[in-house]
Amino acid sequence: MSEPQTFARIPEPPETFLLGHLLTLSAETPVQDMWRLARELGPIFRMELRGRVLIVLSGYDLVNEVCDETRFDKSIRGGLRLVRRFGGDGLFTSKTEEPNWSKAHNILLPNFSQRAMESYHAVMLDIADQLAVKWSRLNFGEEIDVARDMTSLTVDTIGLSGFDYRFNSFYHDKEHPFVGAMADALAITMDELRDVPMESLLSTRRDRQLQDDIRTMNETVDRLIKDRRASGEDHSAKSDLLSCMLHGVDKKTGEPLDDVNIRHQIITFLIAGHETTSGLLSFAIYALLNNPEVLAKASAEVDRVLGPDPTTKPTYKQVNELRYITQLLKETLRLWPTAPVFGLYPLADTVIGGKYKIKKDHTITVMLPALHR
Ligand code: HEM
Repeated sequence: MSEPQTFARIPEPPETFLLGHLLTLSAETPVQDMWRLARELGPIFRMELRGRVLIVLSGYDLVNEVCDETRFDKSIRGGLRLVRRFGGDGLFTSKTEEPNWSKAHNILLPNFSQRAMESYHAVMLDIADQLAVKWSRLNFGEEIDVARDMTSLTVDTIGLSGFDYRFNSFYHDKEHPFVGAMADALAITMDELRDVPMESLLSTRRDRQLQDDIRTMNETVDRLIKDRRASGEDHSAKSDLLSCMLHGVDKKTGEPLDDVNIRHQIITFLIAGHETTSGLLSFAIYALLNNPEVLAKASAEVDRVLGPDPTTKPTYKQVNELRYITQLLKETLRLWPTAPVFGLYPLADTVIGGKYKIKKDHTITVMLPALHR
């Protein structure tokens, strides 16, 4: 008879009386707190939040093992389950087995090819120009809110390239209602994750606020769909994301996306398509200003590729020749990944690293900042 297998104990942070690990991650700096724990407890640790077991991984071998799609799948538990209230079964918050996930994948994938990227180039320049004009007209010594301007840049870019919609963020002092509602809904979601038991039942004001935010997002998106339908566009002549969502057919099932799913996809792309990129650009600028020798090299590359005339507009080919700047962006993402965690679950009870037992109902969180350093 074979010996019963013994498993290694997974380290845990200290618990607070009655609340367990609920206060282990602060509301202000949850990522940094998790990162600090990874440094203290090692490449794997365990927390229990409201009865849910979270396994946090930051060791290369363990993360490599859980990226095996035959044993693990994307998890829509915790935060993503709450984001489903406005992201619905859009690509980011749908489960892999939901039919709309593969349908949307098949229909929308061509929008991310190199050819598609080239077709967005003019639109990207249009928005980048607005930023350049704004910054070039500031007086010496005037302050720039870089994070805010990067959000304007990226939300306007995804709005125009994906949906032919101008948020016009650079022309208004106040953010667009959609952007405000989206930021608010995400903040409420983060807040809810930290609720002590029963607290959410008492938060009717917060619930009402969330419902208002969802209504604002839905109204913006529904108007966008209605206007595009009313325009009687020719899909063969225009094939941005919205056009593909409205007219594309999944070759596998022969089915198009339904209207509710299209609404969820647009909200998903507007959220996923701008926050991450604006964070990356803000971190990159911060890093450049703190590393003058890197800034000088980046600047020299731009001069070499684009030539001496500062009014020259870069072509798509020239953008691809900016190799040093591409490396710089990748290095920024390594140091400060702007989607700092992602969640997985095992398809069956399993053992990782040859000794850690993980159950099917456990959620695995991959902690990228700790993994990358
Ligand atoms: C620096 C920029 C970006 C970063 C760091 C980033 C990061 C990520 C990560 C880590 C995931 C996987 C999440 C998971 O499995 O739970 C993801 C998924 C996704 N991202 Fe991004 N992203 C970026 C830019 C974008 C842009 C520009 C768009 C759209 C235009 C976008 C749309 C999406 C979508 C739709 C998904 C879900 C894909 C699926 O599961 O089918 N992302 N992103």
